[in-house]
Amino acid sequence: MKMTVIGCGYLGAVHAACMASLGHDVVGIDVDRQKVRALCAGKAPFHEPGLEEMLAQETAAGRLRFTAEPTPRDLAGAGIHFITVGTPQSDDGGAADLSHLMGAVDMIVELLDPTERTVVVGKSTVPVGTAHTVEERLAGTGAALAWNPEFLREGYAVEDTLRPSRLVYGLSADADSAFRGRDALDEAYRPILDAGTPVIVDSFSTAELVKVAANSFLATKISFINAMAEICDATGADVTMLAQALGHDERIGRRALGAGIGFGGGCLPKDIRAFVARAEELNKGESVAFLREVDAINTRGRTRAVAAAEAALGGSVTGKTITVLGASFKPDTDDVRDSPALDVASRLHERGANVRVTDPIALTNAAIDKPHLTMVEDLHAALTDADLVFLATEWSQFVDMDPADIGPLVRTRTIVDGRNALDREAWNAAGWTHVGLGR
Ligand code: UDX
Repeated sequence: MKMTVIGCGYLGAVHAACMASLGHDVVGIDVDRQKVRALCAGKAPFHEPGLEEMLAQETAAGRLRFTAEPTPRDLAGAGIHFITVGTPQSDDGGAADLSHLMGAVDMIVELLDPTERTVVVGKSTVPVGTAHTVEERLAGTGAALAWNPEFLREGYAVEDTLRPSRLVYGLSADADSAFRGRDALDEAYRPILDAGTPVIVDSFSTAELVKVAANSFLATKISFINAMAEICDATGADVTMLAQALGHDERIGRRALGAGIGFGGGCLPKDIRAFVARAEELNKGESVAFLREVDAINTRGRTRAVAAAEAALGGSVTGKTITVLGASFKPDTDDVRDSPALDVASRLHERGANVRVTDPIALTNAAIDKPHLTMVEDLHAALTDADLVFLATEWSQFVDMDPADIGPLVRTRTIVDGRNALDREAWNAAGWTHVGLGR
C-alpha cells in the first residue's frame, strides 16, 4: 500500500519505518530539513533502539523515502495519509497547541487530488473533538478521516508499533467514510491484525479519549505511589515494599508503581494538562480536577528529592559537588523534554551546588536544554571527588555499577536514589549511605 506519514518526530519516524518494514511504500514528510536529510541517509535523528537499522534497511530497499518539500506527486495514489505531528503544550497555558496538526491538514487539502478517494488517519494525541474539526476541513477533498491513536513508549517504540497491545480505530459518523477508514486501516495493519492484536472500533471521540485517558491513568498511578512515598517518609514505612505488596493484587499490578522523582517526557505531563484544559472547555473540569493534584504531586517529587539531597549534605548543598546520574526523562532514550532529572539538577545548581550531569546518550540534548549545567561524558570523571551522587534516571549503566568499584572515586559515599532502583543492601555493604525516596 502506498502511504504518507506527515510529521517525522518520535512517533512519525518510527511509524514510517515500521510501515515500510511491513512492505508498504512510504513517503515521510516533515518541515525540518535537517531531520529529513538525516532520515534520507538512513540515520535516526534521535535515539530509539532498532530504528536506525530499520531506516537504513528500508531506505536502501526503496520502500521508504522522506521529503521536506512535498508535491502533489508525493501524495498521489496513497491509500492513507497518516498525520503524526506533535501537539505540544501551548505557550500560554495547559491546552494543546494544534497549529502543527492544522498545518498538516491544510497541506493535505492543498496537495491532494480531489478525485482521489483516499483516507487521512490522525495518530497525534489531540483534545477530544479535534477529529470532528479536521473532518470539516477535509470536506470537499474526497478524503475520509479515521482516528487511530498510538500508545508507543519511547525506548520501545519499534516494538510497540509492530506489536501493539491493541489497535484503536475511531471512525466517522458518516457510514461511507467509516467503511473506507476501517478498510484502509485493516489493509495497512494486516500483519499486525493477523498476529491476533485486539482491535477496538468506535467513534472519533472514543478514540481521541482512549489516548488521553490511558496517559492520565498512568500518570495517576505514578503520582499515587509518590503520594504514598510522602506518607512513608512521615511514618517510617518503605514505599518500595508497599509497591511490591500492592502489585501482587492483579487488579492493581506492579508496573508504573515506581516511586521516585516522578514522570516527565513529551507525553504524560502535557497530556494531563491538555485534558484538564479541554474538560474545562466542556464544562466538565470537575471530572478531571484530580489531574491537577496528580500534576502537583509529581512536581513535589522533584522538590522532595532536592530536600533529600540537602538533608544528606547536612542541610545545604551550597559549594558541594553533586554528580547527577541521568539527564533523559527515562532510560533508553535521549529525550530530555520535561526531564525530572534535569529539573532536579537545575534546582540543585540554583541552590549553589557544583552540579555535574552525566548520561550515556542524552548529554547533547541536555546541553541545549540546560546550557548552565556542566555535562560530563565520562562516568568516572563525573564521579571523581563528588560529595553526593544523585541517581536521577535508572539507566542500566548506573543501576549495575559496582558500589565497591566506584567508592574510591568519590569524596563521600552518599547516594540519593531518586528512582529507588538500587540494591540498598549492596550499596550499604560497600560503605555507602543510601538515601531512598519514601523509604
Ligand atoms: C508514555 C505512555 O506510556 C505511552 O503509552 C504513551 O503513548 C506516551 O507516553 P513514555 O512517555 O515513553 O510513554 O514513557 P513511560 O514509560 O510511560 O514513562 C513516563 C514517565 O514516568 C518517565 O519519566 C518515567 O521515568 C516515569 N515513571 C514510569 C515513573 O516515575 N514511575 C514508574 O513506575 C513508571
